[in-house]
Amino acid sequence: MDKQDVEHSSPSTLQPMVAILGAILAFSLIIALLMHVPAEGDTKPVVANAEENIKPVAAVEVAATSSGAHTEKSGEEVVKAVCAMCHAAGLMSAPKIGDKAQWAPRIAQGYETLVKHATEGIRSMPARGGNPDLSDAEIAGAVANMANQAGANFDPAKLGKK
Ligand code: HEC
Repeated sequence: MDKQDVEHSSPSTLQPMVAILGAILAFSLIIALLMHVPAEGDTKPVVANAEENIKPVAAVEVAATSSGAHTEKSGEEVVKAVCAMCHAAGLMSAPKIGDKAQWAPRIAQGYETLVKHATEGIRSMPARGGNPDLSDAEIAGAVANMANQAGANFDPAKLGKK
């Protein structure tokens, strides 16, 4: 007899519970929808931005992996890929590309000294521009490329043959 009672009463106690659960679900669904609708408008430009931001990173990765086999890059390529990161805008007071006044005292030190400093690093200038994959020739080419844009006439072919 007891067993029958339980079987009878259980569905009747479950029903309000199901109703409450249903109400909670419906309520949270509405909240979720309400929160989602304005969020969608907001995320679209963010997603577009994120895609734009990812592109240069992907490009850098491709450049890094392709240098695994090490194809020598021209001075100009190295400058664009590595050195410009700081030297384009003059980050941490790096001499700006094309700024003759900033480069003149550097150039006056001579090509060899500049290449040595670029290779070994000096003050906040990291060794090899922070890219240990760069060869000596690539550093020399990059130094000549930047210095020559500011009035020098350095020739990587003549380096060390003075
Ligand atoms: C992380 C930023 C950064 C990167 C990347 C970078 N540089 Fe520099 N570089 C500097 C800063 C800062 C200075 C100025 C250092 C000082 O004189 O205090 C500098 C100075 C120099 C100088 C002048 C050194 C001297 O003796 O006056 C040369 C040459 C140079 N960088 C070459 C390069 C080359 C070539 C690359 C790319 C392979 C490169 N840099 C990448 C930050 C950077």
